[in-house]
Order: sequence, then structure tokens, then C-alpha cells
Amino acid sequence: MTGSFQIVDASWRDFNELRQLENECFPLDAWPFWDVLGILTLPDVVRLKAVTHGKMTGFIAGDVRRHEGAGWIATLAVTEGYRRNGIAIALITTLEIQMNVKKVKLCVRRSNTAAINLYHKLGYQDKGVWEKYYVGNEDALVLEKVLEGV
Ligand SMILES: CC(C)(COP(=O)(O)OP(=O)(O)OC[C@H]1O[C@@H](n2cnc3c(N)ncnc32)[C@H](O)[C@@H]1OP(=O)(O)O)[C@@H](O)C(=O)NCCC(=O)NCCS
Repeated sequence: MTGSFQIVDASWRDFNELRQLENECFPLDAWPFWDVLGILTLPDVVRLKAVTHGKMTGFIAGDVRRHEGAGWIATLAVTEGYRRNGIAIALITTLEIQMNVKKVKLCVRRSNTAAINLYHKLGYQDKGVWEKYYVGNEDALVLEKVLEGV
């Protein structure tokens, strides 16, 4: 399913839709209640959603760490039926602008080819491995992008 979408700020009002999206997209790593609430309410977090015909079809959050001059992508998810439509690219590029940091970092499961392709396409580079980081003992790849003009 495709269609036009908008990228807008998310808030605590998106709690139920975000919980559903997380459960759908991360069967092994879905965040518990308090983590979902935290990402929607804590300071120093940029949170954005993609909206298609009034429904949340994607979400991204970035944790801004000014003392490090860096931001971490904490989560990124797009509803299955709306993928390959540019929603993730739009969410990441908007987040990069709004975080206003020199570097953006993230980690991703080694087997997550879709996300790794996406990050490489956007200029993220491999920086290291956290062994057995995820549930099920899968390694995390750590990626980083230096932003120009910040
Ligand atoms: C990874 C994810 C966020 C991508 O969202 P999306 O909106 O479909 O991504 P986009 O349409 O913006 O894709 C941009 C590029 O990413 C790459 N990509 C995305 N999905 C891909 C797939 N299934 N296989 C290979 N490459 C893929 C491609 O390079 C794609 O460009 P193209 O469509 O021109 O080939 C989505 O698949 C998802 O939510 N997955 C489950 C949750 C997840 O893994 N999140 C990331 C955790 S680190």
C-alpha cells in the first residue's frame, strides 16, 4: 500500500499507536510500557511520526546528547503495509535536521538487511560491533554518520 504521508511531531497522545507499531515491528525487542511512555515524554528527545490518512504509519526517536555532540537513533519503525515508500528516509532526514548535532549514531541487528541497506544508502558507516547485544544473543552493528554544515 502506498500513498502520500506527512512527517510531524509525535507526543504522548500517540502512546497507543506507537505501542502497537513497536509490537508489530519488533517481535523480539518491543519496548515495555515505560520505555514507550519515556520516549514520548522525556526531554532531549526528538520524536517524529509519519501519518498517512490520519494513521501513524511510521515513527522515529532520537536521543540528543549535547555533551557528546551526538544523537542516537533510539527506534525507527514503519508499518509493514506502508514500507518501500520512502517513509523511513523521510523520518531519518527530518530527524537529522531537528537533532542539530554533529554526529548521528545507531545500532542495528546484524541480520536486519533492510535497515542496514537503508542506513548505508543515507551515508551511515560501520563503526563497530557490540557482541551478543540483543535478545537471542545477536550482535549489534554500530553505525555513524557525520553531518555536514552543523
Ligand atoms: C527498516 C524499515 C524502517 C525501512 O522502512 P521503509 O519506509 O520501508 O524504508 P524506505 O522506503 O525509506 O527505504 C529506503 C531504502 O532502504 C532500503 N530498504 C528498505 N527496505 C528494504 C528491504 N526490505 N530490503 C532491502 N533494502 C531495503 C532500500 O535501499 C530502500 O531504497 P529503495 O526502496 O529505493 O530500494 C522498515 O523495514 C521497518 O520498520 N522494519 C522493522 C523495524 C526495523 O527493523 N527498524 C530498524 C531498527 S534499527
